[in-house]
Amino acid sequence: MTSQGTTKAADTAAVLRTEKLCAGYGGVAIVRDLDLEVRSGEVVLLLGANGAGKSTTMHTLAGGLPVIGGRVLVEGSPTTSPAHRRCRQAISFVTEERSVFRSLSVEDNLRLGRGGVEPALQLMPELRPLLKRKAGLLSGGEQQMLTLSRAIAARPKILLADELSLGLAPLIAARLLDAVRSAADQGLGVLLVEQHVRQAMQMADRVYVLRRGEVVLQGTAAQMRDRLAEIEDSYLSEGEQPARAGS
Ligand SMILES: Nc1ncnc2c1ncn2[C@@H]1O[C@H](COP(=O)(O)OP(=O)(O)OP(=O)(O)O)[C@@H](O)[C@H]1O
Ligand SMILES: [Mg+2]
Repeated sequence: MTSQGTTKAADTAAVLRTEKLCAGYGGVAIVRDLDLEVRSGEVVLLLGANGAGKSTTMHTLAGGLPVIGGRVLVEGSPTTSPAHRRCRQAISFVTEERSVFRSLSVEDNLRLGRGGVEPALQLMPELRPLLKRKAGLLSGGEQQMLTLSRAIAARPKILLADELSLGLAPLIAARLLDAVRSAADQGLGVLLVEQHVRQAMQMADRVYVLRRGEVVLQGTAAQMRDRLAEIEDSYLSEGEQPARAGS
């Protein structure tokens, strides 16, 4: 974790930036005025209770949901510009849904990725003995190792990872986070949503906390680690209460 902290990040340009981003569904904004940035080589953690707007943000950044207001810039270029296609190619999006071709072998799954087989195996050597197995027969953790290694091997500039380790054991979550950290240390910019908050805080560089679609806290992971109990109580607890009129 040599790159942790802000020193390196401070002199690197943002690979991903949002300016006053408003995002939601059917023209109704759920996420409002979001200003965030991810620099090359850093892992940025996006925290918030259920329904805070994390996945909405991720899907909008990945291009799956239209921007309602504000801008998304990839390597400084607005993604609605003619450079749109190129920008989107720089982004890889992985979610809790294991995006593997279940009837194909692990090897064929990797072959279909833009990065090919060997680079993915270097990231995740655990997959080597499983190469001939159908991906549908892998455990959930193994499927996510496949999903993640294929995504990183494609050498995107930005990785968006939304609840990659949902429902998986802490040990597997740690393995996945470790691979994400290593990729960031090689220059990848990562925006991470993760249920294993404590583990993620250990490997992240910076943190944004969303509440009802707005950033209410941000800082370095080191600063946030000191306030973890408070953050968990105030912002991450289940069943966030709806906003009261006037509050
Ligand atoms: N397709 C949709 N249409 C309308 N509203 C939606 C849709 N998907 C999500 N929402 C609403 O948007 C809000 C934010 O949801 P989102 O999935 O972004 O939250 P989240 O922070 O990812 O939560 P979780 O931790 O449960 O994954 C919620 O109130 C949710 O009900
Ligand atoms: Mg979500």
